[in-house]
Amino acid sequence: MSTNAAVVNDPGTQANAPFDAETRRRLSELRSQLGDDLLILGHHYMSSEAIRWADLTGDSLALSRLAAQSTAENIVFLGVHFMAETADILTTEDRKVLSPDIGAGCLMAEMASIGQVLQCWNHLVKNNGKQTIPITYVNSSAKLKAFCGEHGGAVCTSSNAEKVLAWALEQGGRALFFPDMHLGRNAAAALGVTGDEVARWVRAENRLRGDMNKARVIVWDGFCPVHVGFTVMDAERVRVSNPGIKVVVHPECPREVVEAADDSGSTEKIIKLVEQSPSGSAWAIGTEINLVKRLAGNHPDKVIISLNSNVPQCPDMAKINERGLLTALQGIAEGQPKGVVKVDQQTAQWAQKALERMFAVT
Ligand code: 13P
Ligand code: SF4
Repeated sequence: MSTNAAVVNDPGTQANAPFDAETRRRLSELRSQLGDDLLILGHHYMSSEAIRWADLTGDSLALSRLAAQSTAENIVFLGVHFMAETADILTTEDRKVLSPDIGAGCLMAEMASIGQVLQCWNHLVKNNGKQTIPITYVNSSAKLKAFCGEHGGAVCTSSNAEKVLAWALEQGGRALFFPDMHLGRNAAAALGVTGDEVARWVRAENRLRGDMNKARVIVWDGFCPVHVGFTVMDAERVRVSNPGIKVVVHPECPREVVEAADDSGSTEKIIKLVEQSPSGSAWAIGTEINLVKRLAGNHPDKVIISLNSNVPQCPDMAKINERGLLTALQGIAEGQPKGVVKVDQQTAQWAQKALERMFAVT
């Protein structure tokens, strides 16, 4: 089991809202009935109502490791679609991965399709012979992971983007990083790759902005609509109203926001920073609001605020709730599983290759 993972309390012991008492009673019953045949994994962006049902929680990297190590027959994933797909890729054929809401996608992942990436790839190959290593953020479809596997590339998460990018630059002269331009830029900057050495692929125009011959990292122009809501002005504002406060942001935030922050890192890193800080410390956090609220609730001895509380929650993470979980568990118990996430074998094989390269590097 990953040391990054947190074991969550048994929800049966917690106070339940009356309107959902029946749902929760059934959930508790089904969960006990399914026993070791069931593993519920939960991402940190889940609402508190949903995540308390998770056996284990983690960031994208920790959850993919947990899925790979699991021997449970059924994994129910409290997270978005690409996370469930990754779990399916990393588990054997006989195991099932289920999503409580199959429509819970990721707006950033949807900003890069395999067709668009192929156009970009062909353009790069045709116009410049330099070897290019494709790197996909785990927030992407299985097809893009497979593309990376097939073309000598790898997957990365927000925890290991710098290491994976460094590896890619050692392999070839250049890396193509998709779909998140901000994570790509932040990882490149951490390696000292900036200015002309970073170019941007503009999807809408199907062309490269920047100097193809100088570029060492080409970033796709995707982004997370939640994380681009945090600004440098937010950091300035919270520091004025809370002297001494530390600002920490997720690396999906734009480069200038990461530069203005005291620190940046994955959801797991943010949690560790807050947990390990002394009582009385103050944090302004630039990431999804559910995590920030939970940290504030778990650490009443510290000041924990959102870097900007007007930034809305992730609409897709919010689709996962107790009702969907109940439907998923009922389906398993009745032998008619619903919301099964299945990646076809050929795609899964290549995607697994890209994930294995990531694990080898980190
Ligand atoms: P983590 O890699 O920190 O889990 O983040 C995933 C994500 O979707 C952030 O928006
Ligand atoms: Fe995707 Fe952003 Fe939601 Fe993360 S927070 S799942 S990157 S849309």
